[in-house]
Amino acid sequence: MDELEERKQWVRQHLERAHSLPTLPVVIARVIGMVDRPQTSSRQLGDEIAKDQVLTAKVLKLVNSGFYGFSRPISTITHAVTMLGFDAVKGLVLGCSALEDMEEALPGLWEHSLACARTCAFIAEHRRMGEVEELSVSGLLHDLGKVVLYQGFAQQFYQVRSLVETGDLLFYEAENEVLGAHHGLVGGWLLEKWTLPAKLVAPVSDHHDFRPHRSHAEWTAVVHLADVLCRAEALGNGGDRKVPQLQPAALKLLDLGLEDIRRIMERLDAELDDIPRM
Ligand SMILES: [Fe+2]
Ligand SMILES: [Fe+2]
Repeated sequence: MDELEERKQWVRQHLERAHSLPTLPVVIARVIGMVDRPQTSSRQLGDEIAKDQVLTAKVLKLVNSGFYGFSRPISTITHAVTMLGFDAVKGLVLGCSALEDMEEALPGLWEHSLACARTCAFIAEHRRMGEVEELSVSGLLHDLGKVVLYQGFAQQFYQVRSLVETGDLLFYEAENEVLGAHHGLVGGWLLEKWTLPAKLVAPVSDHHDFRPHRSHAEWTAVVHLADVLCRAEALGNGGDRKVPQLQPAALKLLDLGLEDIRRIMERLDAELDDIPRM
């Protein structure tokens, strides 16, 4: 095993030991269990989330933030569950609980994640894809691994940050160098452990390493493109100053040309004006 592979294994083992993972609050763990049981109804799931007022407020705020562009405000969790579906709600609940630490890890990362989620929806709508809500949850969670690394590997995380500042590296390149694994993989491992469906996990794992032959490549391509567009527009802050390179294979798979990108960018400009540019 070469040194890089060894470090990668080490990161994974470290993450697998439950205590080094961000802890899942009891209510979230219960919600996840319920989503995975086929006999759960929207009402039961809504009632369970509603027991936690702080979580309820956060989820409703997110749902009504322009995230999904519903024409009328959604005022109850049960309504949100009915509109969005179980897996999207599960992702949102996870996002709200895990990503609130983002501000501490990397200022601007929450805004970057939100912008990416909404851009995923713009791309999906432009291409008339289905399951827009779930796809945008993948966008919301795409950089979750950065929070995990901050929480579980603080020392290495600072090393990564200083490498990014002094070297000419992108965040994920510096992570590969220091840890042998980047935040995409790390976030994907965590979401897998939290039993999110593969179609939501794959775009998170692969958003910096797009390969057209992999499973769920279409969704990965959307998240990859959304991430790059948000970085190019400086919406929020992904942690580094350089913009990752757009993979031509992703555009090819999505069958998008320059004119399509221009129109999607127009929507970013018009509709994401509530997200700070950093
Ligand atoms: Fe990323
Ligand atoms: Fe990102």
